Amino acid sequence: HRVGTGSAHGKIILLGEHTVVYGMPAIAIPMPDLRVDAVAYQRAPIGSPYIDPAPRRPDTELIRTVHIDPGGDDASGDSIGTAAHALLRILGYPAHPVDVVVRCAVPPGRGLGASAACALAAVRALADHLDHPLPPETLRRAAQRGEDLAHGTASGIDAAACLADGPIWFEAGWVRPLTCPARARIVVADTGIPGSTSVAVAHVRTRLGVESDWARKQLITAAALTRLAADDLATGALSALGRHCLASHALLSELGVSCQALDRLVTAAVDAGAPGAKLTGGGLGGCMIALAEDIPHADRVAAALERAGAVRIWTIPFGAAA
Ligand code: PMV
Repeated sequence: HRVGTGSAHGKIILLGEHTVVYGMPAIAIPMPDLRVDAVAYQRAPIGSPYIDPAPRRPDTELIRTVHIDPGGDDASGDSIGTAAHALLRILGYPAHPVDVVVRCAVPPGRGLGASAACALAAVRALADHLDHPLPPETLRRAAQRGEDLAHGTASGIDAAACLADGPIWFEAGWVRPLTCPARARIVVADTGIPGSTSVAVAHVRTRLGVESDWARKQLITAAALTRLAADDLATGALSALGRHCLASHALLSELGVSCQALDRLVTAAVDAGAPGAKLTGGGLGGCMIALAEDIPHADRVAAALERAGAVRIWTIPFGAAA
């Protein structure tokens, strides 16, 4: 059996995080340059010289090696192992023990989809090793099993976005591609504070649970903002999109998932002329995003975010037009 390879990329959520857990729509955009690489290969017999078959890039970090035994049970207790075993249940286990090595350039705990991208890269590498080309839907389902373990009540948007070639609309498990403005850019900035998605999701659940009329209103407003944002993307109306991002940040703050560091970066981006900015992903730390008209504008916004304390900054296109 050959050495199988698989990769996946990180993502940001443009609008709709948290409320997507309750079936409301959300929009996600891939970060194609933030990659996870995985290799799957037949485990070498004990005592044989160790040859590392995993591709190495300077910006990647070894996440973990998962050992899989023929017909074995998933005792790994982590999202990569769970996703790998879910795939093997679909394919049938190989007759030999397999190692899967995952290297990741997506910083974990920053709302950039690291866990979903790791799970996807791992299942792709396994499917390749077993010479079993699979439709994206099967890969997504296997990766989702890992996400369920990592987050408890994951909506599925991360696995869908880390698999997608371009921007997506995600609603109640359904995915459709979106058209986006070509010149505009998104600046993604890391507060440097790790945020736990499962803690943030639990926090929102408690908050929505106590005030049901208020909760309904928040969910309806969030869904309306995501719909308006999809129209803005289709027409290239960046300033309207910016307003809708700011309204979404305000709503997420009301849900209790922003923090001082995120608010400070959002203000700095707007002061630097960004049409809009907001937290992205789980919040309570992690990353924020700011919109920019083009690359020079993105550079100015990025410089302002750095001055305001961002520890890492990426600039991404909205993605290929659908
Ligand atoms: O993995 P994160 O931090 O990007 O969060 C995913 C988005 C949430 O809506 C907060 C959770 C979910 O399952 O959709």
